[in-house]
Amino acid sequence: MNPVANLLERLAIGPETDLADEPVLDLGGGNVLTRRSLTEALGEITSTGKGKTTHVRTIGRGFLRNRYGGLVLTVKRSQIDEFQSLCRAETRERDCLVIAPGGAQVFNPLDGETSASEAAALVAELAEVLSDRVRDGGENEAFWRAQLGIILRNLFELSLVSYGRLDLVLAAELFDGRANSPAEVADPNWLRQSPLAAAIAAARQHPERGEARLAADYFAKTFPAHGDRLQGSLAATVGSVFDHLRRSPLRELFTGRSTFTMDDLLDHGKVCVVGLPVLDSAAGRIANALLQYCFCRAAHYSFLLSDECQETVSRELMRKLAVLREFKVSTVLLTQNLAVLDERIGETAREGLLGLMGTKIFGPQGHAATRQWAAEQIGKRKVAVETKTKGRSSGQSDGHSSSTSVHQQWDYRVPPSRFAELQIGETICLRDGKVWLTRWHKDTPGKRGTARIVD
Ligand SMILES: Nc1ncnc2c1ncn2[C@@H]1O[C@H](COP(=O)(O)OP(=O)(O)O)[C@@H](O)[C@H]1O
Ligand SMILES: [Mg+2]
Repeated sequence: MNPVANLLERLAIGPETDLADEPVLDLGGGNVLTRRSLTEALGEITSTGKGKTTHVRTIGRGFLRNRYGGLVLTVKRSQIDEFQSLCRAETRERDCLVIAPGGAQVFNPLDGETSASEAAALVAELAEVLSDRVRDGGENEAFWRAQLGIILRNLFELSLVSYGRLDLVLAAELFDGRANSPAEVADPNWLRQSPLAAAIAAARQHPERGEARLAADYFAKTFPAHGDRLQGSLAATVGSVFDHLRRSPLRELFTGRSTFTMDDLLDHGKVCVVGLPVLDSAAGRIANALLQYCFCRAAHYSFLLSDECQETVSRELMRKLAVLREFKVSTVLLTQNLAVLDERIGETAREGLLGLMGTKIFGPQGHAATRQWAAEQIGKRKVAVETKTKGRSSGQSDGHSSSTSVHQQWDYRVPPSRFAELQIGETICLRDGKVWLTRWHKDTPGKRGTARIVD
């Protein structure tokens, strides 16, 4: 638009409001979360049975009513039905894509992917989740992780040369054909039968493709010469991820032709619900990790919902959280207490993760160290404390005198014990140094002054 027309339009209808300033949730006491403030992530820590799932219903409906798209991670089966019923309540059921065995949805993470290192990064992440290596384990761990990256990268490079595309099932077949010793590499049977041997030969016919040549050398020389322990551990890890990916139910869900893309979630208001919960199976852990990974890579203007997030939090998510904000993703994580997060990712990563939460919500809390931590987060302030001293003095009729002295003392703005006293439906929120009490309605957001969806 030309500047004059622009000026005239603004005079006529007022300055345009930035979408990011639109309110989404009203948490009471004048505390309104806008689209922008929601991109600064929201974390809730509340004991089991004290309202997390109820609160996230209000938050989820807030996203749905405001036409967000997004991803819902699931830990328990009940969360799938639960989210579908929120979609019905907000008449968004047509936008809800449940990716589950026997369903209509397929998402192939390598659809249109042309970079072997991107494919390798995805599978490495899945391997970490599967082998429970979410914690940072020091130097050995870093070495091992680097080796995992190298083998996967080389495998996908050979897959590109051999098949002209990246595909999880084909990569798994190549991997099965690996030679485990220098003697095997020279074995005519192996050379004749192994698809990996054929891929190595194909790579060698393309000396102009440097990456492919290096990959061929890796599987012809480096890997077979690795010591038994390293070779065995890499083979077991990579083998077990591929084993899951090429079997039912993951094969049907994550290979072949995609029925939706991440852009559908990000730009077209679709919401993907992971229909294989984490606690049901290893396949559930992989499915949640895979979709979370792809979503975080692509994400912008959308939401990521994770109730009982200690089960789904991943290294990739922790790395991404700081930048997800730039991508305008509203991340909502809910968990029980610090101990369950520490168990999963360790104390340092937990501090980092929670430090990134722009809005912190604390509900009733039975874990003492978490109550103490919550009080610390909210901080201390100076309060005036009165001390009365009583004494006897001779000059007065009753023989008593009392004096009052006032001094300043640092004290918790909200003492740890307060989190034990909170009732179901009450939370204490912290945002930008402001602290307030929010009440939540069990099923009708906004009723009797509870947290309300702004639309
Ligand atoms: N604001 C509320 N008012 C009344 N009951 C509530 C409220 N929030 C939760 N409840 C009840 O408390 C129980 C546990 O809530 P839930 O949200 O499942 O907790 P969590 O997910 O933390 O385990 C449920 O029976 C729920 O109906
Ligand atoms: Mg719950």
